[in-house]
Amino acid sequence: MRTQLFVDGTWRDGGGGATIGVLDPATGETIADVASGTPEDATAAVDAAAAAQPEWARRPARERSEILRESWRLMNERADALAAIITAEQGKPLAEARGEIDYAAEFLRWNAEESVRISGRLSSTPSGASRVLVSHPPVGVVVMVTPWNFPAAMITRKVAPALGAGNATVIKPAAETPLTALFIAELLTDAGVPPGLVNVVPTNEPGPWFDAAIGHPATRMFSFTGSTAVGRALQAKSAQRVLKSTLELGGNAPFIVLADADVEAAVAGAMVAKMRHTGQTCVAANRFYVHRAVADEFTDRLATEMSAVVVGAGVEPGVGCGPVISAAAVDRLHRTVEAAVASGAKVVTGGSPASRPGFFFEPTVIAGVESGAEILDGELFGPVAPIVCFDDDDDAVAWANATEMGLAAYIYGQDLARGLNIAERLQVGMVGLNRGFMSDPSAPFGGMKQSGLGREGGAEGIYEFCETRFVAADW
Ligand code: SIN
Repeated sequence: MRTQLFVDGTWRDGGGGATIGVLDPATGETIADVASGTPEDATAAVDAAAAAQPEWARRPARERSEILRESWRLMNERADALAAIITAEQGKPLAEARGEIDYAAEFLRWNAEESVRISGRLSSTPSGASRVLVSHPPVGVVVMVTPWNFPAAMITRKVAPALGAGNATVIKPAAETPLTALFIAELLTDAGVPPGLVNVVPTNEPGPWFDAAIGHPATRMFSFTGSTAVGRALQAKSAQRVLKSTLELGGNAPFIVLADADVEAAVAGAMVAKMRHTGQTCVAANRFYVHRAVADEFTDRLATEMSAVVVGAGVEPGVGCGPVISAAAVDRLHRTVEAAVASGAKVVTGGSPASRPGFFFEPTVIAGVESGAEILDGELFGPVAPIVCFDDDDDAVAWANATEMGLAAYIYGQDLARGLNIAERLQVGMVGLNRGFMSDPSAPFGGMKQSGLGREGGAEGIYEFCETRFVAADW
């Protein structure tokens, strides 16, 4: 396990000598002490990135592509070791850690393919006075701030297109999960990424670190995945330098079950949309709106499935619900459930912290929730499913849209036209129609409203890491 900073292709301690204690959320115990980068370390990382980037950008796209492809191969080859690290510091069950690695590796392969297809455009002005040649050079140095819930995939989702387009990167992984990021830095280096292009600088001083990194004159872009509150604050700071940015922020995904839904399929989808990574995803189903005609059946079946999920440490066999990230998260979930019950809702299953060491909360279903209830307002980020009944599809759509968030939504119903009509009325960037899982490196992940700016993945993703230049030419 690497525990030092990775700057300019070398491993080093943080300038201040401080370390970050990394906890196993399944036990609450410290599993590693990782060097904590200072603002000066962040500056050194941007210096290294700025020095390395021009030569990288000049290389043929095919060379960059082949290094990304080799990174994909190595990530698969080293999947067992990486999965063990993810489970140890993040808590998710080993099978889900393996699933995350497949997802993370696929961003490397997808962007290996996309990086040789960055194309421009040639057109004539309407007057015929000149031709216009549009091209997409790399942005330069990109600072990335990544979250703890997908410690591998949220790095490759940013680093792969950034490198593919010819940029250099400086990454601040979440303080909870730096070990995965450092593992990936080594893997990318072994795959052939030259020194300086991927710098990983964990820190327990995020504010000063970020000020130094984005205040550096060579930084041209920042890319963030995390909460809307933090994203908004970082964007306000980066506005001082008018940095290009992508923001993948919070969600509050509605899960709508229409009267004609196949309830068994809807429950299967709900289990994925709710319980993937113990409910700790920004696309997690956060609010269930279920037509009254199927509400009892849906609630009973969902409660049966939820109560059958095995809660435990990610390394234990058969576990479907690992720990949440911290003791504070357990407290927050508990307070939220208690407040819902105090306002008239009913716990059908779960409802409490699980009685074992570590940070566990029982898979929970709450029924009888009113459409204006407080529990529907914020991201739950845990294994809790509040259910609201509706009688009229228009109400479900209006309630689903009654939020500043606009990341994802789910719809279950057998009439495809009706489902697609509702999908088009939802103010979100992504819809799962009769699916509880929509994320894929080949699709443009991202949100509307305060859920973010820009898209990651798909054909769109790599262009986020490019500038646009045109040349007006005569010949
Ligand atoms: C996230 O929770 O930030 C990402 C979820 C996904 O990629 O599916």
